Amino acid sequence: MDMQRIPAQDGIYNLQNFDKTRETFSWEDVKKNFSWNETGKVNIAYEAIDRHAEDTDKKDKTALLYSSPDREEKLTFDELSKKSNQFANVLKKYDVEKGDRVFLFLPRSPEFYAAFFGILKTGAIAGPLFEAFMEQAVRDRLQDSEAKMLITTPDLLGRVPQEDLPDLEKIVLVGDHNESSDKYIDFQKEMKEASTDFDIEWVDLEDGMLIHYTSGSTGKPKGVYHVHNAMIQHYATAEWVLDLNEDDVYWCTADPGWVTGTSYGIFAPWLKGVTNVIRGGRFSPENWYGTLDKFNVTIWYTAPTALRKLVSAGEDAVKKHDLSSLRHIMSVGEPLNPEVITWGMKAFDLRIHDTWWMTETGAQLIVNIPSEEIRPGSMGKPIPGVEASIVDNEGNELPPNQMGNLAIKKGWPSMMRKIWNRPEKFESYFVNGWYVSGDSAYKDEDGYFWFQGRLDDVINTSGERVGPFEVESKLIEHPAVAEAGVIGKPDPERGEIIKAFITLNDGYKDSPELLEEIRQFIKTGLSAHAAPRELEVKDAIPKTRSGKIMRRLLKSWELGLPTGDTSTLEE
Ligand code: WTA
Repeated sequence: MDMQRIPAQDGIYNLQNFDKTRETFSWEDVKKNFSWNETGKVNIAYEAIDRHAEDTDKKDKTALLYSSPDREEKLTFDELSKKSNQFANVLKKYDVEKGDRVFLFLPRSPEFYAAFFGILKTGAIAGPLFEAFMEQAVRDRLQDSEAKMLITTPDLLGRVPQEDLPDLEKIVLVGDHNESSDKYIDFQKEMKEASTDFDIEWVDLEDGMLIHYTSGSTGKPKGVYHVHNAMIQHYATAEWVLDLNEDDVYWCTADPGWVTGTSYGIFAPWLKGVTNVIRGGRFSPENWYGTLDKFNVTIWYTAPTALRKLVSAGEDAVKKHDLSSLRHIMSVGEPLNPEVITWGMKAFDLRIHDTWWMTETGAQLIVNIPSEEIRPGSMGKPIPGVEASIVDNEGNELPPNQMGNLAIKKGWPSMMRKIWNRPEKFESYFVNGWYVSGDSAYKDEDGYFWFQGRLDDVINTSGERVGPFEVESKLIEHPAVAEAGVIGKPDPERGEIIKAFITLNDGYKDSPELLEEIRQFIKTGLSAHAAPRELEVKDAIPKTRSGKIMRRLLKSWELGLPTGDTSTLEE
């Protein structure tokens, strides 16, 4: 098996010898790729879209290749630039100002991308929400961010609890509707009337551009705040890791409600001026392969869960399609099984490149670079300009092959700058100058990192991060549920599934119907991806004397593992 691959062409760095690049690299050099390095005027929307629209050779190039079961559409850089200008004008008309939070709650569609860049062009902060969120999830995020405006569809509007959202001034509706109140703004109508010229708001590199809500093991989801400066790392990794070149057709399967769908579904490809495939609708092996084939995708960024599904679908499914354009595959979000890499070599004759990073890190940090050796099962090595290590709980570095906290030296360009409204939470990530990820890993003698697991109770199901607290809080809102403890249970296809243990209130009896009803309650109240696949009724939920749910103990019981220290267990 040939585990060596050389990228298609050298960019501004020595892509053939990355260890050399690591030695001599400086982030200052990357800045030379941006117009603001000369003008001092910054806006990530300009660098990603308008810059190409101003370039006579590029303006008519396809930026967005949109495809869903019922709609297909292409937008050039020029068209995307104009549409986002129009939307920026709509926002200004309704008093959106720099720093305001404007949220998007709509499926992937050309309108989503025009609106997204329109928000950034006004200097406001965009907050994309996953389209599968239900009322509770939407409420938590819009309340915490004090969002002023929301862009959604008439279909999704029912999940927006407006009575609980006093800061929400206006709602832009994309699609036909019968709402007449002046709280609503009609997307189509306003866009038609809006000018395609817009004076972009020039901002500082450190000004906010994006908030992504993500889950921890305690508390409600937290608003991870990113700034325009992140573009430096999006751009560099687009070159080194995504290996994007002028003629590539790129496809990232992630939803823009998650960080992969913005950093690598929006910014990285467009900062490089590459044609970007956006696919709406549900996924199946048939339409994954169909999309790769139909658009002659050359570079594909996806997730282990998807790849494992393809493995299950078998090699015959691959053979039905012409995938000869494909030259580079990457994966993120969960551990990439070595067997999947081996399968990829057979099925596609290509290596699958694992990448590790987080919502909080804003961009890739530990990766398999095309020109470097791959060690199946390892996440690879840090990118140039990033120092990663394994540290103990006090932030002291540990020697090779010793398991500990995967940590990054503070200060890479795309690092989150705060947690919205929660400064103490932000501070809690840092120990002795290291950003501590919450993942455990070890590093081998040659500097390759090997993921071991989460150190906290965060659940990773099909690559989506779910906080047990959010699910537990929703569970106990159901009249039958007295207490709840939620864990991630290992699953061969999904990585983990969500398992909930509950106790019942008096008068309720354990039955399959009741459990299904409770499951539906989460699915329709919080989000489908957060609904427990397994529910089990217990007589009691183990708690510490201070009342904290002992999820670790639940997990040990579930997996038949030793229970460890239970001295803090309540009687
Ligand atoms: C996990 C997604 C193993 C990890 C970009 C991390 C991974 C969390 C990998 C972040 C990988 C991400 N191998 N685990 N290559 N990449 N993870 O914030 O536990 O949704 O902390 O960001 O996903 O998930 P998030």
